[in-house]
Amino acid sequence: MDQRQSFQMANSAIPLSLTSKFILPEDKRPQLAQISSLASVPVIDLNDNGNKNGHYLLVQKISQACEDYGFFQIINHGVPQEVCDRMMSAITDFFELPPEERAEFVTEDHTKQVKVFHYNLKVEGQEKVSMWSETFSHPWHRGEDLAHLLPKNPPKYREAFGEYAKEVRTLITSLFSLISEALGLEKDFLQKRLGDPPTLRTQANYYPPCPNPDLTLGLAIHTDPQALTVVQQSAGVTGLQVLKDGEWVAVDPIPNAFVINLGDQMQVLSNGRFKSVHHRAVTNKTQLRVSSAMFYAPNLDTVIGPIEDLIDEVEHPPIYRSYRYAEFLQEWFRQEGKRRMVKELFQLPK
Ligand code: OGA
Ligand code: NI
Repeated sequence: MDQRQSFQMANSAIPLSLTSKFILPEDKRPQLAQISSLASVPVIDLNDNGNKNGHYLLVQKISQACEDYGFFQIINHGVPQEVCDRMMSAITDFFELPPEERAEFVTEDHTKQVKVFHYNLKVEGQEKVSMWSETFSHPWHRGEDLAHLLPKNPPKYREAFGEYAKEVRTLITSLFSLISEALGLEKDFLQKRLGDPPTLRTQANYYPPCPNPDLTLGLAIHTDPQALTVVQQSAGVTGLQVLKDGEWVAVDPIPNAFVINLGDQMQVLSNGRFKSVHHRAVTNKTQLRVSSAMFYAPNLDTVIGPIEDLIDEVEHPPIYRSYRYAEFLQEWFRQEGKRRMVKELFQLPK
C-alpha cells in the first residue's frame, strides 16, 4: 500500500494500524508518555518594543531564549491574522487536492526548486522508514516574481503566499535586528553578514491523523540548517517538540503566535552562544496538523564562521572554522536520511 493510500484511510473513519514502512525501530520511537510538563519555550511579546525600557527588556528576553532554548514564540508580531489564516488555508487545500494535482511536483531530486516529497529515516539493517507527513518546499524571495513556479491549484495559493512572504520578510528583519542587539552588535549586522540575496526557502508540512502515534514520527529529530526559521502551526493541535536538557518539551500553539527558532548558522556565527536546538514533530490520532516554516539562510557564497567581535584568544576562542554556506549545504544533503552531524564537522579541535 503506498503512503498516500494509507493517508486517505487514516483520514477516513476506518481504524487502521500502520504499515511497516512507517514503523520506527523501538529505540527511535517518540516515547510520548515522557514529555516534560515543567519546561516551556518562552513567549515573547513584540509590543514591548514600543518604549526604551521595554526595548531593553525585550532584547534581554530574546538573548536568554536564544541561549537557553534556541526557540521562542512571539505574539503581537505585526503580521495580520487574515494573512496568516489565508496561508494556512491555502496550504491545507493544496495537500487535500487529489494526489494527481500534486504529481507534477513530486520528486526525490533535492536540486528541484519546487518539490513535494516524504522525509525518510535510514535505519541500519532495514528499509528506510517513512515519516508520517507530506512536505511541500519551494523558494521565496522579495521582488522577483516567483508566482509562475508556484502551484496553480488551489487558485488562492499564489496570492496568499505572496502576501505572507512580504509580511514574514519584514518580521524577519525586525527579528534579526533584535538578535543582533542581543549579541551586542549593530542592528543591521546579522542581515548584512548573511549576505544578499539570502537563500530563502519555505516548507509546508502536512501531518494527517495517525493510527499509531507511538510507533512513528511526523518529522524526525533534526536541527534546521539555515539561520532563522519562522513557523506557523495549526491552531489547537500539539506536535512540535524541542529537546531541552535531554527532555522533550512541547511547543504548543498559542493563538496568533509564531514559533521562531535559530538554525545551525546562528550557532556558528555566535560561536556557540546561541543554540540551534534539536526538534521533531509527533503525530496524533484525531487531528490534522499543518505547519508552515519560512527559512532564512545565508547567500550560498557567504563565508560563515564565528563573528570576529565575539571571539578572542583567551576567553572565547573560535570553536568553528569558516566555510562557504554552499559547502555546509552540500554536506547536509550528503547526510540525507541520517541523524545529521553537519556543524560538528566544522568544529575546530579543542
Ligand atoms: C521544519 C520543522 C516543525 C513543525 O519544518 O523544519 O521543524 O512543527 N517543522 O512542523
Ligand atoms: Ni525544523
